[in-house]
Amino acid sequence: MLGQFVTGVTVVTAMPDDGPVGFTCQSFGALSMDPPLVLLCPGKGSTSWPKVASTGRFAVNLLAQDQIAAARGFAVRGSDKFAGVRWSAGGFSGAPLLSGALGWLECEIATVHEAGDHWIVVARILDLAAATGRLPLTFFRGTLAGLGAPPPGPGGRS
Ligand SMILES: Cc1cc2nc3c(=O)[nH]c(=O)nc-3n(C[C@H](O)[C@H](O)[C@H](O)COP(=O)(O)O)c2cc1C
Repeated sequence: MLGQFVTGVTVVTAMPDDGPVGFTCQSFGALSMDPPLVLLCPGKGSTSWPKVASTGRFAVNLLAQDQIAAARGFAVRGSDKFAGVRWSAGGFSGAPLLSGALGWLECEIATVHEAGDHWIVVARILDLAAATGRLPLTFFRGTLAGLGAPPPGPGGRS
């Protein structure tokens, strides 16, 4: 039944000493304006999350509708998730900012709460940026899909 609730799709990334890590994450949301906080819910079984957490800082990449391959690729455990993926390092976290995303946030972990088989991670926004001319990727009833044709006009950051 919860698949009836449509969400966007993100890829959460970080840059530990042994190289970039990331995982696809739909359980992301705005939390607080003052201070600026977001939340996300990594599963306890994720092997990427402990590596992200070890750095204390991470990036949230809001995926655009033409990034279905990234959404799928970053959900495959043990694969070379960054193969063929274009990104640049975030100035506050060093975390990969994926080219072509709809928006990017760099965050610092504030608190982590235990909740069943997931963690609830509360994080402070350090920086954020948005692209123009792109539409979001959505996840609905187990299916990744875009919203339709992008609005006319030039794109923003790539
Ligand atoms: C559309 C989509 C949404 C996902 N959302 C979440 C999520 O909110 N939290 C989570 O822990 N895993 C989520 N996953 C699964 C993780 O991406 C996946 O378990 C993880 O990448 C496994 O690899 P890891 O062990 O490297 O973390 C999602 C996967 C997909 C395809």
